[in-house]
Amino acid sequence: MERIVFVPGESVSLVIPEKQDLDIMYKWINNINLIKYLQPIRHNTRETEEKFLNDKLEKADKFFVIMQNDTKEIIGSVWFNEFDDFSRNWIIWICLYDENKLWKWYGSEAMKLFLKYAFEYIWYNKVKLQVFSNNPRAIASYKKCWFKEVWIFRQELYIMWEYVDSIAMEMLRSEY
Ligand SMILES: CC(C)(COP(=O)(O)OP(=O)(O)OC[C@H]1O[C@@H](n2cnc3c(N)ncnc32)[C@H](O)[C@@H]1OP(=O)(O)O)[C@@H](O)C(=O)NCCC(=O)NCCS
Repeated sequence: MERIVFVPGESVSLVIPEKQDLDIMYKWINNINLIKYLQPIRHNTRETEEKFLNDKLEKADKFFVIMQNDTKEIIGSVWFNEFDDFSRNWIIWICLYDENKLWKWYGSEAMKLFLKYAFEYIWYNKVKLQVFSNNPRAIASYKKCWFKEVWIFRQELYIMWEYVDSIAMEMLRSEY
C-alpha cells in the first residue's frame, strides 16, 4: 500500500510509520555498525523493538520513518525522544537503517525536513541532540543542518573498546 508522505523532500521524505516497519527496525537495532553511534552495545529482542514502535504508533506523532523517494524503500527514522511541550524544546534522534545508504545526503536532507516540521509545522522553539566523538560523519551532517556545538561531556559513554565524548548541539528557531 502506498505510504503517506507527511513532509515531502527531493530525495527522501518523512512518512508516517506503520506496523510493517518493524522488520527493518529490528534488523537495524541489532546492527552493531550502526548502533555503535547511538548507544552502548547491547542486543535487542523483536519484542523490545515492537514495544518501541507500538509506543510511537499509539502516540501518532513525533516519529517519522524516512522513505527514499525513487525506490520507496524505508531507509531510516527520525524522532523526538524526550520533549517538553511546555517550553517547546526537543531532543532529536536520527538513524539510517542501512550502511549502504550513509554518506549520500539522505540523512542531512531528512534532518532538514524534520527541522521544517519542528519549526514551521508545529512552531517549536529549540531542538537539541547529543552526538558522540566516534561519529565525525554525524557531526559534519549536523553542522550542515545549522546545529551549533554547545558543550562536551568528556568520556561519557563506553562504546566498543573506548570511552567517547558526548557533544551537545542545539539550534534555536531564531537560527533556523
Ligand atoms: C548521521 C547520519 C544521519 C548522517 O546522514 P548522511 O546521509 O550519512 O550524511 P551526509 O551524507 O549528508 O553528510 C555526511 C557528511 O559527513 C562527512 N563525513 C563522512 N565521514 C567523515 C569523517 N570520517 N570525518 C569528517 N567528515 C566526514 C561527509 O563528507 C559529509 O559531508 P559533505 O556532504 O560536506 O561532504 C547517517 O550517517 C546515519 O544515520 N548514521 C548512522 C547512525 C548515526 O550515526 N546516527 C546519529 C547518531 S547522533
